[in-house]
Amino acid sequence: MLKDKTIILGVTGGIAAYKAADLVSRLKKQNANVEVIMTEGAAEFVTPLTFQTMSGNIVHTKMFNEIIDYDVEHISLAQKGDMILIAPATANTIGKIANGIADNLLTTVVMASDKKVFFAPAMNTKMYQNPIVKTNMEKLKDLGYGFIEPAIGKLACGDFGEGKMAEPADIVDFVIGSFVEKDLRDKTIVITAGPTIEPLDPVRFMTNHSSGKMGYSIAKNAADRGANVILITGPTSIEPPRNVELIRVNTTEEMLNAVGKHFDDCDVLIKSAAPVDYKPKDFSQSKIKKKQNEDKFSIEYVKNPDIAAHFGKIKENQIMIGFAAETDNLYEYAAEKLKQKNLDFIVANDVSKEGAGFNVDTNIITIIDNNGGITNYPKMEKTQVAKVILDRVKYLLDDKG
Ligand code: PMT
Repeated sequence: MLKDKTIILGVTGGIAAYKAADLVSRLKKQNANVEVIMTEGAAEFVTPLTFQTMSGNIVHTKMFNEIIDYDVEHISLAQKGDMILIAPATANTIGKIANGIADNLLTTVVMASDKKVFFAPAMNTKMYQNPIVKTNMEKLKDLGYGFIEPAIGKLACGDFGEGKMAEPADIVDFVIGSFVEKDLRDKTIVITAGPTIEPLDPVRFMTNHSSGKMGYSIAKNAADRGANVILITGPTSIEPPRNVELIRVNTTEEMLNAVGKHFDDCDVLIKSAAPVDYKPKDFSQSKIKKKQNEDKFSIEYVKNPDIAAHFGKIKENQIMIGFAAETDNLYEYAAEKLKQKNLDFIVANDVSKEGAGFNVDTNIITIIDNNGGITNYPKMEKTQVAKVILDRVKYLLDDKG
């Protein structure tokens, strides 16, 4: 995904420098060319040879190296990169750049570059919360520099708190996202994902196999494209994307209420969740006991609200997309749901096919629109399916003007 991109990776002097080696390896897996610049401090933690081996390029460390290809090194690096990523970024390097100090190769390259610059800070919590550091970061943000916020966790110094460098996998996601065109900027997109669960007693519930992968992929793609994303999710065990407002729910009723809070202000509602259609009529406050002399056990179910149908009835300007999970008569049932729920288009997937539907990384979809248009797609990664769906959404948004 980063083919033809050159990332200038600035590694500064903190213990998280060792994680930067993993970061290089992950960027290389995405086919990026990685040029590493290490500060003197960084070289105290990890050797340049490590980064040279991982990146397959000479590691840049000194300001006054021999001139390479008759270019001055800092100018040549500044022009060569599509992005400068500083990970880990210490308070010292952040402070220098915020105050126009260019006293080593990295800070000089940043000064000489007109490309995007992102910092992944890593430092002790007290340092991270220091007003001087905060002011420097705010200044840089105002100037258009990007930050990949650190996580909260156990730090190398033994403290627990804010300041742990973001995980390399998340940094790579962020890098990929930063190259995506922001064509959904200023749009608010509500996405539902995952299953819902309907409790029967304190230890049992009714649910389905939805993992949330489909909905989370759509949420990630929309956020990468600059949309303001509200992701309403049932219980899942996968990591939600960054840069989305996450709302966790359990039951179909809770999902309905959460969508209701945001529906009036959204431009698009995408219903990729698999809400449970029926719930047990009665919830038993205590665990239902097994009866030794009875072989049968029945539960009475009552209908849950149909979220998509409810909002389909009251929608004004919103674009609404639904999914149809079918095992037979795909076109017929999906077309019926498209009409009944008053959707703009429906994404039908035959969940009985291998590589489609629940809890897999791929999907095989057919899009049916409300003009009767039908498009079949081959098996694709869910990340790719998400792009296809949002390209259609973008088209509809542009059409509305
Ligand atoms: O989460 P994954 O493991 O990645 O799996 C993806 C998926 C199979 C869940 C997804 O691709 C999908 O098909 N989602 C819709 C599942 C579903 O509930 O389909 P349905 O045909 O029963 O419902 C039709 C539409 O009505 C859906 O948009 C659904 O979100 C919506 N619905 C359904 C029931 C209900 N009570 N309220 C609803 O809004």
